[in-house]
Amino acid sequence: MNIKDYIDEKRKKKYYEEMSSDKFIRYFEKNDKELQKLMTYYECAMMEAETKFKVLNSEFELTREYSPIETIKSRLKTLDSLVAKSHLYKAKTSFEDIQDKIEDIAGIRVICGFPEDIYLVADCFLQQDDITLIDCKDYIKNPKPNGYRSLHLIVTVPIFLEHEKRDMKVEVQLRTIAMDFWASLEHKLKYKKELPADINDRLVEELLECATTSADLDMRMQNIRRQIEGGTSHIDDAVDLQQWM
Ligand code: GTP
Ligand code: MG
Repeated sequence: MNIKDYIDEKRKKKYYEEMSSDKFIRYFEKNDKELQKLMTYYECAMMEAETKFKVLNSEFELTREYSPIETIKSRLKTLDSLVAKSHLYKAKTSFEDIQDKIEDIAGIRVICGFPEDIYLVADCFLQQDDITLIDCKDYIKNPKPNGYRSLHLIVTVPIFLEHEKRDMKVEVQLRTIAMDFWASLEHKLKYKKELPADINDRLVEELLECATTSADLDMRMQNIRRQIEGGTSHIDDAVDLQQWM
């Protein structure tokens, strides 16, 4: 475990322990109806985003007889985690500031077969005129030092209520099956506390090697698919997602 991870871990633990006296707990308690409403709005935005990806997948199945998306998982942040993160990000005790600072209250994970499908799906999603890209982190082109790869988008998705339209933030993580497999194993190691330091360090190193092997496998399989399909790529590799920002 590197020092940053260690400190992050300690910090999070400390905030969880202090939770009972936390100002956010009291704020949430006092404004429970509004919090409930807000979480419902996020849930609706998450459903909207998920539907958009499902629609894209159905269209691809129809027009290209092929599904770029394997699975979609969505999750709403737990209240424990929202309290801890509001504290960590020094949010004010106001729902406006919390919504501004915490960008992953609604999260969806789109798992694709091949790396190029990720860019194809992301590009089609971002082209939609009701989606606004707030931030894009491409950990596929620039993997994290531990080997983590995924494409992260923070977008706003509109939800239509009885009397108003609201743009809600949603975090979208796009990954291949291999990237997802790696991330879930790495996540397990990150939260395994009782491992001796030397074993932990060795596993961190081995995971980094696995990330490289897995990235190589993703590219080789993608090349095989291209050859099976007569050398045609489903997308132009040079899709520049920054154009949507
Ligand atoms: P946080 O939102 O506080 O996590 O900071 P950030 O916005 O800088 O994070 P980032 O966009 O890099 O990552 C957000 C999410 O991606 C995390 O909550 C995880 O779900 C996932 N993620 C990022 N880095 C890693 C990693 O190294 N390993 C694993 N397993 N997941 C990661
Ligand atoms: Mg984040």
